[in-house]
Amino acid sequence: MKPMDDSGLDKIVLMGFMGAGKSTVAAEIGESLAVDWLDTDDLVEEMAGETITEIFDQRGESAFRKIEKKAVKKALNSEVSVISLGGGAPLEEENWRLIQSGGTSFYLEVSPERIEKRLRGGKERPLLEGLTEKERREKIKRLLEKREPRYGKADFIVPAGDRSPSAVAEEILSVLEDESGKTLCASG
Ligand code: S3P
Repeated sequence: MKPMDDSGLDKIVLMGFMGAGKSTVAAEIGESLAVDWLDTDDLVEEMAGETITEIFDQRGESAFRKIEKKAVKKALNSEVSVISLGGGAPLEEENWRLIQSGGTSFYLEVSPERIEKRLRGGKERPLLEGLTEKERREKIKRLLEKREPRYGKADFIVPAGDRSPSAVAEEILSVLEDESGKTLCASG
């Protein structure tokens, strides 16, 4: 039995590649259900007192992954109902075990082509910095291929490429309603 929060809901855990819209969808769900949500990237920055780019630049990816593990643990042990994970978080075995036992997970599936477009001019992604367009495209494809087997083990896969964050959020809520047999109380 998975842990439930105050509203009697399983935690909702969103995973997927950078640019899949996880944090925006988490906020949409949080607002519709009037529950708290958080993004593990924000938690990492809060815990470290540095931005993700600073952590990568000054201490490297492995230092980032260590802090991310603490953030994932903290998030999944918290009262927060909706959690969006950094794109690489589910790949770490320790995180994956917590994700599986900590809530209902959703993979926001987006094609590499669309990810590439969405990431242009967006927030800084240290894993994709300093690359030519071609290298960037190839790295996105390669990383996604490596990660998909894990993402695909989420409890539910939600196509998120050509839909708005609110449409993706609505689908997640309707999946949960079907699963729980309850009407989830949406605000507004
Ligand atoms: C990463 C994704 C980022 C952030 C970090 C590493 C990854 O989060 O955690 O830059 O390994 O895919 P988003 O998925 O929110 O962009």
